[in-house]
Amino acid sequence: MSPILQLRGLQRRVGSTEILRGIDLDVMPGEVIGVIGPSGSGKSSLLRCIAGLDEIAGGSVQVEGRATQPGDGAIGMVFQQFNLWPHLSARDNVSLALRLVRKMPAAAAAEKAEAALAQVGLGALAARKPAALSGGQQQRVAIARSLAMEPRVLLFDEPTAALDPELTTEVLDVIRNLAASGTTMLVVSHEMGFVAGLAHRVVFLDHGQMVQTGTPQVIFSEAAEPRIRSFLQTYLSRVAWVQG
Ligand SMILES: Nc1ncnc2c1ncn2[C@@H]1O[C@H](COP(=O)(O)OP(=O)(O)O)[C@@H](O)[C@H]1O
Ligand SMILES: [Mg+2]
Repeated sequence: MSPILQLRGLQRRVGSTEILRGIDLDVMPGEVIGVIGPSGSGKSSLLRCIAGLDEIAGGSVQVEGRATQPGDGAIGMVFQQFNLWPHLSARDNVSLALRLVRKMPAAAAAEKAEAALAQVGLGALAARKPAALSGGQQQRVAIARSLAMEPRVLLFDEPTAALDPELTTEVLDVIRNLAASGTTMLVVSHEMGFVAGLAHRVVFLDHGQMVQTGTPQVIFSEAAEPRIRSFLQTYLSRVAWVQG
């Protein structure tokens, strides 16, 4: 089997600042990669470069052996902020790019949007506008919007970071279902338990470099690398009250 996504020497620079310092990664079809690391380590930049939203200074991004092109839909991305149009229904938010970018007729686009909404458990709420949906439901609409474009690889950048804890679960459940159905994805999240349970492989970034990559067991329990241990320690101390 060959990789569905291949990064080679991926570099990003802003002015003289090195933001990504040569990232190499092969992602296999159906693989789920968790991306963790301190704030400012380059997690968002990595996803944005893969999605073609940030310009790369060197290296390559290939999907199924081909360089990605803007607008080819090979990569989908879900952001922390849902970025839904407030004046449009969930259905229209999801179908908009199908109509405008894919030039799909309105009826077919609406049908596809409803199928994508059903996939995230929102089939009954397709007519609602964002203001009439909870934050968790809005993020599920944003996920449906990505799914409707049928990307080869789906990227999540802290998809629950803007949500209250009780709304986080429903979004994590949707992402788990996508993983179980074989969606290839890269997930940046600070929900360490979620990442540990979801990812086939975890990548730890620091200062724009991949410090280590390995199974969740290796990264969360066995990593000897001091930067990983100290990063994980901050999470452990944050939940330490649970153990009393
Ligand atoms: N457009 C930009 N201009 C200047 N610096 C940037 C820009 N985008 C990101 N950076 C810097 O790049 C580094 C990585 O940022 P980012 O990818 O957002 O990290 P993370 O998502 O891990 O918090 C940070 O030091 C950030 O300040
Ligand atoms: Mg970020």
